[in-house]
Amino acid sequence: MSTAKVLLTGGAGYIGSHTAVELINQGFEVVVVDDLSRSEHQMIEGIEKITGKPVLFYKGDCADASFLQSVFEKEKIGNVIHFAAYKSVGESVENPLLYYRNNLLSMVTLLAEMKRAGVSKIIFSSSCTVYGQPEHIPVDESAPFKKAESPYGATKQMCERILEDATVSNKNLKVISLRYFNPVGAHPSALIGELPIGTPSNLVPFITQTAAGIRTQLTVFGNDYNTPDGSCVRDFIHVVDLAKAHVKAVQAIDSITTPYETFNIGTGKGETVLELIKKFISVTSVKLNYTIGARRPGDVEKIFAEPRKAREVLKWKAEQTLEDSLLHAWNWEKKLRGLK
Ligand code: NAD
Ligand code: WQD
Repeated sequence: MSTAKVLLTGGAGYIGSHTAVELINQGFEVVVVDDLSRSEHQMIEGIEKITGKPVLFYKGDCADASFLQSVFEKEKIGNVIHFAAYKSVGESVENPLLYYRNNLLSMVTLLAEMKRAGVSKIIFSSSCTVYGQPEHIPVDESAPFKKAESPYGATKQMCERILEDATVSNKNLKVISLRYFNPVGAHPSALIGELPIGTPSNLVPFITQTAAGIRTQLTVFGNDYNTPDGSCVRDFIHVVDLAKAHVKAVQAIDSITTPYETFNIGTGKGETVLELIKKFISVTSVKLNYTIGARRPGDVEKIFAEPRKAREVLKWKAEQTLEDSLLHAWNWEKKLRGLK
């Protein structure tokens, strides 16, 4: 194995921390860069506890060129995985400039500093949000981008464009964009998981916080969609499966001959919001107070992945069930709140 390390920007976050664990477990050395604006140092400690290895951690902002330059000078980096971004759809509508500034400036600054340091491989955290409501489901990677529903979604589309353009001018650059579907769950050890800021907007953290008594009630946003039970359909993927897709991408990037590639990372199965709620109640045996409310503006009715390309090229497929995800998410919430 090469001695070059894998740099994880935003590696103290939800998906980055799980990816750090899977990379370390496969023998990679990782370097984490994070400004801890949306996470906490306890995630680094969690990675260390799970793997039994110390983590090289640099606290700083990816939009700060001199900070990134100093990291590239200190560490021999072979691959970068770029997680660092803000991710709240609602917050991006309230404060679009914050999102354009952070998500785009960190992308552009990182690419410039990679070029200066001679680092030529990057895996990018994209999102199924780039597709909007696709014409065909399951959606594959050839589906066109729709007008983004939010500034957050626009930053993912723009970052993909920036990366693809960068491969045209820099012939050494190799890029993989992984388009995640809906990441859920936590590490089975309950030592790392999702740490939502304030009131969660994503479904599963809202469910676990309601079950833990922090929120009084979950509202299901609409039951009049054209779906089996009227609630929206999503492709919920266990965060550990998602983390493993990054390991596969790092392993495959040298053998992929095209400079820019995109992969859907999902299970290929659609589940409704109400099906998920019923599974949560059944696997955890906890009471969950929920009600049906109005549709949430901007929600797509149904989407799930065609993950064939990831299976064939990256040799990756999702292995864990939605029940696993929900149980692990609940165990993490209980641990955070000190519940039995
Ligand atoms: P997260 O908020 O848990 O992690 C992001 C991390 O990046 C945080 O630790 C934060 O402190 C850090 N960060 C943000 N801006 C930074 C900057 N300028 N410099 C340094 N660090 C910075 O989010 P996550 O769920 O782990 O998401 C990781 C990536 O995956 C993001 O790019 C997100 O947009 C993308 N994504 C997430 C989801 C999801 O539902 N969680 C779905 C699709 C795509
Ligand atoms: C899932 C379903 C809601 C909360 C978002 C981003 C996407 C990606 C993943 C980053 C929807 C319903 C939710 C609640 C509910 N992130 N819901 N009550 O909207 O599919 O995707 O996160 O890239 O870009 O848009 O995820 O978890 O918010 O919602 O009924 O309190 O749960 O309406 O149908 P979403 P979500």
